[in-house]
Amino acid sequence: MVNNKIEVKNFNCYYNHDHILKSLNINIIQNEILTIIGPANSGKTTFLKALNRMNDLNITYSYKGEIFLDKNSIFSMNMEKLRQRIGILFAIPLPLPMSIYENIVYAPKCLKIVNKKQDQDILVERSLKNAFLWNEVKDRLNLSAMKISGGQQQRLCIARTLAMNPEVILFDEPCSGLDHISTEKIETLMTELKYKYTILLVTNNVKQASRVGDKTAFFLNGELIEINQTDKFFISPKNKQTENYITGRYIIS
Ligand SMILES: Nc1ncnc2c1ncn2[C@@H]1O[C@H](COP(=O)(O)OP(=O)(O)OP(=O)(O)O)[C@@H](O)[C@H]1O
Ligand SMILES: [Mg+2]
Repeated sequence: MVNNKIEVKNFNCYYNHDHILKSLNINIIQNEILTIIGPANSGKTTFLKALNRMNDLNITYSYKGEIFLDKNSIFSMNMEKLRQRIGILFAIPLPLPMSIYENIVYAPKCLKIVNKKQDQDILVERSLKNAFLWNEVKDRLNLSAMKISGGQQQRLCIARTLAMNPEVILFDEPCSGLDHISTEKIETLMTELKYKYTILLVTNNVKQASRVGDKTAFFLNGELIEINQTDKFFISPKNKQTENYITGRYIIS
């Protein structure tokens, strides 16, 4: 049975008087990857931030409409709990300036998810294995996270997110600074992770969307122009603007 993990209902948001996201209606199905493509300034990052309420402290930001996670409004949830359930990763990996090991256990320790050293060890190993990083770092867990490569740092950030046991993971252009080998590792990882998590992937790489997404959505100027199963989306887009964008004919007006 299809289960809507997230339901976005007539959602609008604003920075001051600028209307950024416009009447969005999207259902995101559990254990699927939804990729979101669209030109710069189309509201992709703002949408991901809306889903884990990253803008709540921004006084210029306001919203109208609803977002449900498992049928419960995210706006009436405890913020810490919401962010544990919905993790977010950005283009530039931002490991904490501490060891690989501490990067994984820092937040779970703060939230008292793990206390005993033995449980921490288990969590570190499991998270790094699930992020396909364990074999590369298992002999140097005390090394500073700042000393591993960019692609490894991105997978460490994914491992750190997994350690919080989330239900949804939001990726905002996670491969934009990476070479094709690291990109391939992260794409493979995402397609594995969807069996356990629900994934949203914002990407500027149309080919990546066609490789990874179960569904693909096209955003333009804060509107959802089209959403469909990825194969149908790319083979026979219904909207002319979608077709122009995926064939590289989009011209900024
Ligand atoms: N904190 C902010 N304050 C004011 N305006 C903002 C803020 N963040 C984003 N915006 C505006 O919201 C609009 C959408 O930006 P957003 O970052 O969501 O676009 P995007 O689709 O992610 O673009 P890109 O592909 O370049 O990352 C832009 O016009 C941007 O200037
Ligand atoms: Mg963005």
